[in-house]
Amino acid sequence: MDSIYFDHAATTAMSPEVLQAYIEAASFGPGNASSLHSSGRAARERITSARDVFATHLHCEPSELIFTGSGTESDNSALFGAALAQRKRGRNGIVTTAVEHHAVLNACRQLEAQGFSLTVLPVDEFGRVAVADAQAAINDTTAIVSVMAGNNETGTIQPIAEIGEWARKHKAYMHVDAVQAFGYLSFDLKEMPIDFLSLSAHKINGPQGVGLLYVRKGTPFQPLLFGGSQERNRRAGTENIAGIVAFAKAAELAYDQLQTRWNHVESIREAVLQRLTEQLGEDRFIINGHPTERLPHILNLSFTGISSESMLMNLDLAGVSASGGSACNSGSLKPSHVLTAMNISSERVSSAVRFSFGLGNTREEADNLAKITATISARLRNR
Ligand SMILES: Cc1ncc(COP(=O)(O)O)c(C=O)c1O
Repeated sequence: MDSIYFDHAATTAMSPEVLQAYIEAASFGPGNASSLHSSGRAARERITSARDVFATHLHCEPSELIFTGSGTESDNSALFGAALAQRKRGRNGIVTTAVEHHAVLNACRQLEAQGFSLTVLPVDEFGRVAVADAQAAINDTTAIVSVMAGNNETGTIQPIAEIGEWARKHKAYMHVDAVQAFGYLSFDLKEMPIDFLSLSAHKINGPQGVGLLYVRKGTPFQPLLFGGSQERNRRAGTENIAGIVAFAKAAELAYDQLQTRWNHVESIREAVLQRLTEQLGEDRFIINGHPTERLPHILNLSFTGISSESMLMNLDLAGVSASGGSACNSGSLKPSHVLTAMNISSERVSSAVRFSFGLGNTREEADNLAKITATISARLRNR
């Protein structure tokens, strides 16, 4: 049986068109966008065109976009950039949620160690934050609020618009980590109360090592990296031209096919659930995450009575790539902070497996996964 890759929330393969764009840009020859000669100008034009693609789709100005080296860098830049600038205005509160990616949570903890006052909002059993909790936590001393659009472990979507409106009322800045949601949800930054938005290329069939940060015009921002004057003095370092070009291509394709992408992964998710119910019985697994307010490509299941590690190891032996939590946690036995925050039973937390779907997945793979999982489950339960 061919191997099955059901770990697209960890990373995706570059699509053929993106790879072609990457190779074309990388083969073009040397060109440092800071150089004044023609090769440098050609490199700069490529970055400009890529930035225009994002500006068009995100409904913002090109000058509001900064290319970075990853989603992690975008998150850190937004949090440190805004928090340090806001401290000068007497604001030192940071509000985030217990289910953020570590790129946000650990950056917030670092800021807390530097004297900021951190509030981590709880979530309900589906991993969703209550708008009322956010409203109670945000006040006139809040520097920045960081709430993700869609969760990387459960797919749960957060009420970012309502929370952003409240943040705006109190003149606090709103950061949204849209790394997992981008490519499935669209973001109209003219309309939405968002001041910072983080994206990453490798989650949407783009290359690894490229990210984007939107910073609303007029928002005070202190750079994380110092050096040259790239990205209008907001992110020093020679630009990754091929990566940026390929990221823009991936974003263009994702926007052209937003609904088709959603429908495709949703149909695979449905097929997996249906076939697992037939093969295993519906009492053998529990879905973790919100039933309706969710991204379509993530399915987090607890196979109660079987540890995540045993299931993942056996799936891997059978050629199935899945994950036990966020990619950064895979390989470690630490229980997922996201599932733990949902206050579900420790048995459910320790038996959770995340399947995440992408463009190349087929219904046949969904069928095969169910068969493989049923065999593993019977074997492990009979031990
Ligand atoms: C929600 C979320 N934020 C941030 C990141 C970090 O992005 P990157 O891998 O580009 O650093 C990830 C990656 O898993 C993610 O899922």
